[in-house]
Amino acid sequence: MSTARAFPNLALVKYWGKRDEVLMLPAAGSLSLTLDTFETRTTVTLDPSLRQDAFELDGAENTGDARDRVRAFLDLVRERSGNASHAHVTSTNEAPTGAGLASSASGFAALATAAAAAYGLPSDAAARSRLARRGSGSAARSIIPGVAIWHAGDGDETSFAEPIAAPEMRMVIVILDGTKKAVSSRDAMRLTALTSPFYDGWIRATEASLESMVSACRAGDFTRIGRITESHALRMHAVIASTDPPIRYLSPASVAVFDAVGALRSEGIEAYATADAGPNIAVLTRPEDSATVATRLSVFGRVHDVGPGPGAELVDTGEPPGAPR
Ligand code: DP6
Repeated sequence: MSTARAFPNLALVKYWGKRDEVLMLPAAGSLSLTLDTFETRTTVTLDPSLRQDAFELDGAENTGDARDRVRAFLDLVRERSGNASHAHVTSTNEAPTGAGLASSASGFAALATAAAAAYGLPSDAAARSRLARRGSGSAARSIIPGVAIWHAGDGDETSFAEPIAAPEMRMVIVILDGTKKAVSSRDAMRLTALTSPFYDGWIRATEASLESMVSACRAGDFTRIGRITESHALRMHAVIASTDPPIRYLSPASVAVFDAVGALRSEGIEAYATADAGPNIAVLTRPEDSATVATRLSVFGRVHDVGPGPGAELVDTGEPPGAPR
């Protein structure tokens, strides 16, 4: 039995498009901040008497797509480890349910870390990042603390995330809508590659944004990091809006938050907005400005002022409670 915890991450340079759907290789690299809030905690308990993996999420037996993804992931772990046992997987999320924050990134980063320990697979961060990638691409980055770069790589071995030096930053998350997203990132990403006339341009632009972002991080240039973050996010939403049929994740309220963030900048407070596959907005700030930004944006919805968090890690090596020492 092994228990691990992991946190979600928010991308400053987004991953949106796969080169290989089986190996889960991204079409371009990406860069993110792992958060210190909304922990996922996952326990993997091997049980040779089980005929199928069982998955309990937030206290309820899960029988849907999430369970199928967990099973497919554990099939890979079994194949690699040579241990055919099925497992009980129990997972809890601290993110408020339905707020669109309970992420597959923290989920598969915690599962990869707990499963690697339970099945005896290599536990170094690069190996766990490669493994987590197979569950959900963005999970490769939640293995890593703070700012992580996920290299696109040219195959399974070379596509993993690692830490990169960057200035101190925080994020203010503005929760605008509690409803489940209409189209999953996985499906929308595929539709973008298949139908957007701008897809190739988007991938080339992402490669260029990543290069500029890496040099801005190295230089500790918060302003450049922020500018790239906001323009890159809007480019992603633009390419998503260009699919057939079109998909639009941002709501009128999301656009209003982008405007409010622009207004903060014109007052001299440096803040930059980004959004993933949903209407909620994350605002990048310097540490000294996050409280002001959170107060100003609280008129739009619930706000969370979050900082850089730890990478995925084991929290328990598995003695059952009450076992003799
Ligand atoms: C908009 O990692 O959820 O959050 O690899 O298909 O599981 P799969 O997709 P996923 O996509 C994340 C998309 C994003 C951008 C990002 O996190 O980089």
